[in-house]
Amino acid sequence: MRHPFAEYRHLFPILEHKVQLSSCSQSALSTPVRRAMDDYLTSWSQRGADWGYWMEQVFLARAAFARLVNARAEDIAVLGSVSDAASAVVSALSFGAGQRRGIVCSTLDFPSLCHVWLAQQPRGARVRLVTAQAGVADAGDRVARALDQDTALLAVSQACYYDGQLVDVAATGAAARAQGAVQFVDAYQSAGAVAIDVQAQQVDILAAGAQKYLLGTPGIAFLYVRPALAQGLEPTVTGWFGRREPFAFDPARLDFADGGARFSTGTPPMLCAAAARAGIELLNEVGVPAIQDYLAYLSEVALEEAARLHLEVASPADPLRKNSNTAVRVPDAAALEKPMFDAGYVVSARNDVLRIAPHFYNTADDVVGALRALAALVS
Ligand SMILES: Cc1ncc(COP(=O)(O)O)c(C=O)c1O
Repeated sequence: MRHPFAEYRHLFPILEHKVQLSSCSQSALSTPVRRAMDDYLTSWSQRGADWGYWMEQVFLARAAFARLVNARAEDIAVLGSVSDAASAVVSALSFGAGQRRGIVCSTLDFPSLCHVWLAQQPRGARVRLVTAQAGVADAGDRVARALDQDTALLAVSQACYYDGQLVDVAATGAAARAQGAVQFVDAYQSAGAVAIDVQAQQVDILAAGAQKYLLGTPGIAFLYVRPALAQGLEPTVTGWFGRREPFAFDPARLDFADGGARFSTGTPPMLCAAAARAGIELLNEVGVPAIQDYLAYLSEVALEEAARLHLEVASPADPLRKNSNTAVRVPDAAALEKPMFDAGYVVSARNDVLRIAPHFYNTADDVVGALRALAALVS
């Protein structure tokens, strides 16, 4: 296949001297994102403190994320991390006597999310951590089977950080609804690489940070909450940006902004917002559905090459049931990042796997080259 996004490669200067395949951790820096961060620094050094410009960047980042997932900007809160987003939203649920107490999640969720759910136990929550297996792509079915009439919250990772397996969030959301529970979707490993439509997929709550497939930095996360659901929730983790009028400076008035915006807390990360805006706007221009199709092709290439090289793959064997990450089991994965870098490849280790996670700017040759370099290092 000809690389359908070849004309965008020049926007990612690192590609001239390295093959960056670490979108499951940090995607490549683009010139639009760098320019947005430079503009922020120029504003800071020349205008001092430009709240108007800062708030505009935050609004535009929310709007770009909203467009990416087919929501409205006012339904999106801006926080510092996905863990913060989960904490803010769960703080609005009560797990007392006579109420639903169950939170269902899986061992393939990013651990930080499980920690947020476990931290609700002193508040009365009963956490059911369902064992899921890498490479099998049935985490969604397993958590759906664990739902019952006591479940308040089902938490799923749309794409797993470890093996890349995908969960059909429309199906798990329907299963949650059938039991009277709401679903929290961790989209950190899918947003920007997997098409998301919170309305068509009837998503209740969805959170994603900017550092991975959204082409931005750490330090910012977006939280969508379905408007009718948000309206009935009052977070106890809060701050002035969750108010109707943050700049009213009224210490006595605890009102909640309409929609998902009520889950914002303190001063938003403006510099990270400027970067995220530029990254997400670029993705909206390129089009995530086309990116998703191309990444499925790269997965096919990766899975075939890994098989040819006799590498042990931890990811699902079906390219349509995984995101772009092809995780390869290797001895001492963390120690291999450096020799892979020296060989020209930026890749990311987690536990016992090295993750090859391309984005739309990568080519099939990038993926094949990385797997061959890895096979040579482990042989
Ligand atoms: C799927 C997933 N969720 C959550 C996180 C952590 O997000 P944060 O550090 O923003 O809380 C990660 C980080 O790698 C992740 O891969």
